[in-house]
Amino acid sequence: MPKRPSRPPLSVVEIDSWAPTPKHRKVRRSRPAKAAPSRAVGNAASPGPVVLVTGASQGIGAAIARTFAQAIPGVRLALVARQGAKLVAVARECTALGAEARAFVGDVSIEADVARVAAEVHALWRRVDVLVNNAGSFRPGRLLETSVEAFDALVAANLRSVFLLTRAFAPAMVQHGAGDIFNMSSIAGLGPYPTSAGYCAAKFGVTGLSKVMRAEFRDHGVRVCTVYPGATLSPAWEGSGVPDERLMPAEDVARAFLDVYRLTRRTVVEEIVLRPQAGDL
Ligand SMILES: NC(=O)c1ccc[n+]([C@@H]2O[C@H](COP(=O)([O-])OP(=O)(O)OC[C@H]3O[C@@H](n4cnc5c(N)ncnc54)[C@H](OP(=O)(O)O)[C@@H]3O)[C@@H](O)[C@H]2O)c1
Repeated sequence: MPKRPSRPPLSVVEIDSWAPTPKHRKVRRSRPAKAAPSRAVGNAASPGPVVLVTGASQGIGAAIARTFAQAIPGVRLALVARQGAKLVAVARECTALGAEARAFVGDVSIEADVARVAAEVHALWRRVDVLVNNAGSFRPGRLLETSVEAFDALVAANLRSVFLLTRAFAPAMVQHGAGDIFNMSSIAGLGPYPTSAGYCAAKFGVTGLSKVMRAEFRDHGVRVCTVYPGATLSPAWEGSGVPDERLMPAEDVARAFLDVYRLTRRTVVEEIVLRPQAGDL
């Protein structure tokens, strides 16, 4: 990971607003049972934007969270994923970088989990300014060897999640006349990957959904950006045998999100394509 400029440690924020599903109870026992009192205090005088990142427990999502934490004074980060302990660790990193960060445990492909997380985030911060639909999962599989269950799981994690999160958080953006939505696709959402039938289908679906969002939200001040990364260094590549140097750093991808967000609100970047300089894998 690139070295970040060192900063003095800032006040430690309680990270207690995550509400795990039953499978996370083991982790939850070590946390306070109380739900989300707003005990955390931002490190800036005025509260910054609320940025919700799904899939923030590792990889690109964690890099996006750290990048916003470092660059946006007073940013409030809602970090969402299933693995509570990892999420809390990322939230603590973000806090040390100057953000107010909270962990919200949930499965973004499950409607009830998304509804619960949305209720918790709205109760805490009332709104979300930036929604980063990053969570996703990859399983290789040729079309004729892909089971119905595997196909459904890929579509649920990569596409249904985008629909559910957007339904939960875009209405307030539309009402306020401002907001940003980033949807994570992939270069597998731009062209065919013969051994990734379900993943490709889901990521192409993200493109379609994003284009509809853009068309429907444009006149309400909500910007929509679809991101198409190529191979990026993350735990998803562990054990692949591909050398790290062949992959884009997750921090580079994260930086693109930040740069797009920081443009004036008169400009939208509708699509970003990032590839390893040495080409696709
Ligand atoms: N790395 C690449 O080469 C690459 C290239 C193009 C696009 N992408 C896309 O970029 C995104 C992030 O990829 P990555 O490489 O960082 O992957 P990763 O290391 O596998 O991380 C995936 C993240 O998504 C979360 N997640 C997965 N399913 C979830 C679910 N049902 N509910 C909640 N959270 C879920 C995981 O957290 P928990 O396990 O804690 O839930 C984790 O934080 C994905 O959408 C991926 O398709 C990656």
